[in-house]
Amino acid sequence: MKTIISSRIDEAEHLLIQGEVVAIPTETVYGLAANAMDTDAVLKIFRAKKRPLFNPLILHIGRKEQVHELAYLSAGPLDRLADACWPGPLTLLLPKKETVHDLITAGSPLVAVRMPDHPLTLPLLQRLHFPLAAPSANLFGTVSPTSPVHVAEQLDGKIPMILDGGPCRVGLESTIVKWENNTLHILRTGAITPEIIENVTGLVPFISKEISEKPEAPGQLKSHYAPETPLQCGDLVQLLADSPSQKIAVLCFRQVPDDSRICAHFTLSAAGSEKEAATRLFEGLRTLDKSGADCIVAELLPEKGLGLAVNDRLRRAATVS
Ligand code: TXA
Ligand code: MG
Repeated sequence: MKTIISSRIDEAEHLLIQGEVVAIPTETVYGLAANAMDTDAVLKIFRAKKRPLFNPLILHIGRKEQVHELAYLSAGPLDRLADACWPGPLTLLLPKKETVHDLITAGSPLVAVRMPDHPLTLPLLQRLHFPLAAPSANLFGTVSPTSPVHVAEQLDGKIPMILDGGPCRVGLESTIVKWENNTLHILRTGAITPEIIENVTGLVPFISKEISEKPEAPGQLKSHYAPETPLQCGDLVQLLADSPSQKIAVLCFRQVPDDSRICAHFTLSAAGSEKEAATRLFEGLRTLDKSGADCIVAELLPEKGLGLAVNDRLRRAATVS
């Protein structure tokens, strides 16, 4: 199969209506999308990604009212978050309606819904008469793609089209939130930070740290975002002092340290911007993974705001299973 890379929304729309899968840009990462109401189309996503069927998918919508066709969302903290953050990098876990197939939720009574904020994908969703199911457009367990080139590296020849929306603005997957026992829970950290959630709702969210064997969101699985090269994260000076390796790739926040064993490095943000660091994180992991180093050592960001989400991804990437 030949993979077209194009920014034409009408071509993407046509393929999606035909029941095909299309890689779509979002502000967070690229998604691998199909008509969520067509189970054959949804199965093509699982096949292309080599994703196990127990891993549920996020539904993407173009108008807020659409959420009511798919899930129960009444007035309250989640509704206020949707009003404040959609379109944007926020996913709500909501009790699903019958219209949503079990394949989407992997049998769970909850469904994940979000409205992405992207100049090509939002209008595309508004033209379609169905929501798009879309996980990140990478092979299962690997780093999420933040550019059309990343998608093509893994899926070229396996899908008919990549809708080219350039590099992703945010660069980290959406924040996933649910409401349970009168508490807001963040199941995956992202650009909608705990501070933003507290400002909107007046509630302090609980950040799920538990990484269990059978997680509620498989994005909580450790080693879910892993490069092939073994990775350690923490304080750079300490990591370098402890490393026996002679060929080290360094992912640093602001400045690369001086060490003759460093064979490759990637600076996340010379200006020290957490936002820029988040946008460049997955590009950095991919670049260093190809550097031929024996190991990658990565610097953790200050544990606040977006730094929480960056550090979360680094810790998952660091787990050697
Ligand atoms: O930013 C994003 O959320 C991107 C873009 C493409 O929208 N999507 C994304 O999808 O990251 P994915 O499938 O790679 O990660 C979605 C996470 C997974 O950890 C999945 O298990 C969890 O959301 N999830 C989806 N539906 C769920 C459900 N019903 N219950 C619990 N977790 C769910
Ligand atoms: Mg993913």
